[in-house]
Amino acid sequence: MSLSQIAKTISASPTLKLNEKAAILREKGDPVIHLGGGEPKSRVPMDALLSAVAHLNTGEVRYAPADGIPALKKAIIRYTEEFYNRKVAPENVIASGGAKQAIMVALQAILNPQEEVIYPAPYWVSYPEMVKLCGAIGVPVLPDDGGFYPRIQDIEQRVGSYTKAVIINSPNNPTGAMYSEEFISDIVNFCEKKDLYLIMDDIYHRLLFDGRKPINCYDYAKNLTESSKLIVVNGVSKQYAMTGFRIGWAVANKKLIDAMSNIQGHQTSGPSVILQKAAVGALNGIQSGVESLRTTLENNRNVMIALLNSFEGVKVTKPDGTFYCFADFSYYEKNSNKLSGFLIDKVQVLTVPGGEFGLEGFLRLSFCGTIKEITEGIERMKWALDPNSPNELYIGDRKLMRDWS
Ligand SMILES: Cc1ncc(COP(=O)(O)O)c(C=O)c1O
Repeated sequence: MSLSQIAKTISASPTLKLNEKAAILREKGDPVIHLGGGEPKSRVPMDALLSAVAHLNTGEVRYAPADGIPALKKAIIRYTEEFYNRKVAPENVIASGGAKQAIMVALQAILNPQEEVIYPAPYWVSYPEMVKLCGAIGVPVLPDDGGFYPRIQDIEQRVGSYTKAVIINSPNNPTGAMYSEEFISDIVNFCEKKDLYLIMDDIYHRLLFDGRKPINCYDYAKNLTESSKLIVVNGVSKQYAMTGFRIGWAVANKKLIDAMSNIQGHQTSGPSVILQKAAVGALNGIQSGVESLRTTLENNRNVMIALLNSFEGVKVTKPDGTFYCFADFSYYEKNSNKLSGFLIDKVQVLTVPGGEFGLEGFLRLSFCGTIKEITEGIERMKWALDPNSPNELYIGDRKLMRDWS
């Protein structure tokens, strides 16, 4: 079969693949613990559901404008004022099929083949593939000091004549690291100076721990006019636990938003009007669910970190936000794919291999599930990896026997 050059280079989303794997194993009756997931388990806000249902009840479910319905744009404008202290016009806003599509159409609107996009590593699994889909080249930058906090000098060194954009995701998937104000200020100034697009992927910006507050990139921008190349991306998936609704957005200059809307209009048209209505309900409704999710996640993080800290050989950095912990398991196995596969086969615990995020020897463990799942998942991993553990492990009435050393 002849596929396009680009199609041949694109791999399946490892996290979506893991969700499928978990579903298949569960169907078979396997006692799976999914520590690989990227979605909170809390209920969708009632205001979101009521708003969607009210629209469904009209019986009029039609095409939506390519860049989003006016009510959603209005809610996004209000959100931008509240969290970014910035007044924008409807022409500065596009609503997309998730933050994923907002980033994708932004890249399609700015990249020419062979141009380069820089992003700190470890990075979200989709950035390299999205850049490839544009025929462009992704340039991951690992901090030279081996930490999770990018340094401006490492990024500066990688900028060349082909560099078109930088993507920053803080707090970060997979590390949970929230980058410092100093770094955000430096990167905003640097991109302005070099005339580069800067995509701020803020999808986790309210899911922060230990009293941290979201950082507003506009606070550091010198250019707040229509020539600004700052693109701020956000969405309802994570903060409102609405991953299945597929609504995200971007805020940027009008010319760019217009180009992105043209692309989106031919790609998918506007997102489903029902789902946009749900997002309006979430954004304009009672907000207590976001804080209660945040505190649950902070508690879950504390439990996971305590368990990992008592796991001999495992090195862990405490996440500042998100619902991911990126732990170094290289003491046990340097090939993260192999290690992740071993944990699924032997103890039915799903984790995401660090290699998918650009760092071998690590596993991404999610703490968005229940305390029971976190505790049991880590205990099973310990049992599988520690050569001194007993020969048998009971999961309910199922007996697992060690047949490896
Ligand atoms: C860093 C990052 N950006 C964007 C997204 C996409 O979010 P959405 O569900 O809104 O497409 C995700 C989802 O996992 C993510 O982790």
